[in-house]
Amino acid sequence: MAKTNEFTLIRPDDWHVHLRDGDMLKAVAPLTARQFARAIVMPNLETPITTASAAEAYKERIMAVLGEKSGFTPLMTCYLTDDTDPDDLIPGFELGAFTAAKLYPAGATTHSTGGVTDIARIEGVLGRMEKAGMPLLVHGEVTDPDIDIFDREAVFIERTLAPLLERFPGLKVVFEHITTSDAVDFVSSGPQTLAATVTVHHLMINRSDMFKGGLRPHLYCLPVAKRDSHRLALRKAVTSGNAKFFLGTDSAPHAVSAKEADCGCAGVFSAASALELYAQVFDDEDALDKFEAFASLNGPAFYGLPVNEGRVTLKKTESGLPAAVEVGGGETVKPFHAGEALAWTLVD
Ligand code: DOR
Ligand code: ZN
Repeated sequence: MAKTNEFTLIRPDDWHVHLRDGDMLKAVAPLTARQFARAIVMPNLETPITTASAAEAYKERIMAVLGEKSGFTPLMTCYLTDDTDPDDLIPGFELGAFTAAKLYPAGATTHSTGGVTDIARIEGVLGRMEKAGMPLLVHGEVTDPDIDIFDREAVFIERTLAPLLERFPGLKVVFEHITTSDAVDFVSSGPQTLAATVTVHHLMINRSDMFKGGLRPHLYCLPVAKRDSHRLALRKAVTSGNAKFFLGTDSAPHAVSAKEADCGCAGVFSAASALELYAQVFDDEDALDKFEAFASLNGPAFYGLPVNEGRVTLKKTESGLPAAVEVGGGETVKPFHAGEALAWTLVD
C-alpha cells in the first residue's frame, strides 16, 4: 500500500481493558475514552465484579468519571468463580448488565485468587452461556507451577482450551491477549466461535526487551512477552486481514511504587497512546489498509454488536508521550513508551 500521512477510520473499540476504580479510574478512563467508543471492562477489581448488580454499580462509577457527553460505553464483564450463579449471570447478560464473562484460572494473574479452580466446576454455567450466546473471555495460561512461565499459554491450549471448545462447540470464546505463534495457529485453524485479542505491547516487545540494559518492570505483564519469533507471528496475524483477531490493549495500570518493587505487579499501561502505537505497528508492516478491520470491525462482528458511527483521524506527525500520569495520593503510573515520541497522532 502506498505510504499515507493521514487516515480516518471508524471509531474503534478496546476489547480488553482494566479501568480499575477510585483515583486510578479517574486518571485512566478518560485516556481510553479519548480513543475508543466502547471497551470491554475487565472485572478483576480488588473485590471482583461477580454479580449483575455489582457490574451496574461499577458501570455507574465509570460513567460518573466520564460523563454521558463522552459518548463512551463501558461493556461490563462478570468475573467467573467456582460459585457463579447462572441465574444471575444469564439474566444479567440478557438484560445488558454484562456483555461477557471472564475466566481467570485461579492464581493466574492480578486479583485472580477468587477465579475458577477447575473448569469442571463451571460446566453448568458454560452450558448456559453457550445456549444464551454469551461470550466467554479467557485468560489463557495454566497455573501449574511446574510449567515454565514461557510455556503456560501453549500448555493451556492443549490442556484446557482445546477440550473446552470440544465440549461446548457453540460457545463463543475470546482467547485474550495472545502471545505465541501456538495461539495464532490454534485460533486461525479453530472454529468460527473462537477469536483472539492482541495487545499493542505484545506486538512491539519481546522477552529480551524486559531485560534490556537492566530489569524493566514496566514491561512485565501476564502473559509475559515471549521470544521474538512469537511477536512476529502476532504481527503477521493482525495484519493478515483474518477477522478472528481484534484489538484489545489489556492496558493494566499499576502505581509506579507497585511496579518498581521487590515483587512487582504484572501489567503494561498502554491506554495513554494505544491507538497511535497500534497504527505505528500496522504502518511498519505496510498494512494500514488492514487497520480498520482489526480496530473497528472484527470485534463488533464477533460480539454481534453494531459498528460505531463516529470516525477518528490519525496523522503522521510526531507527538510526545508523557513520562508519567498522576493518579492521586502522590502516585503516578508510567505509560508504555513513556517520554518517547509517537510516530502517529490521534487528531480528532
Ligand atoms: O499483566 C496483566 N495485568 N495481566 C493480567 O492478566 C491482569 C492485569 C492486571 O489486572 O493488572
Ligand atoms: Zn487483562
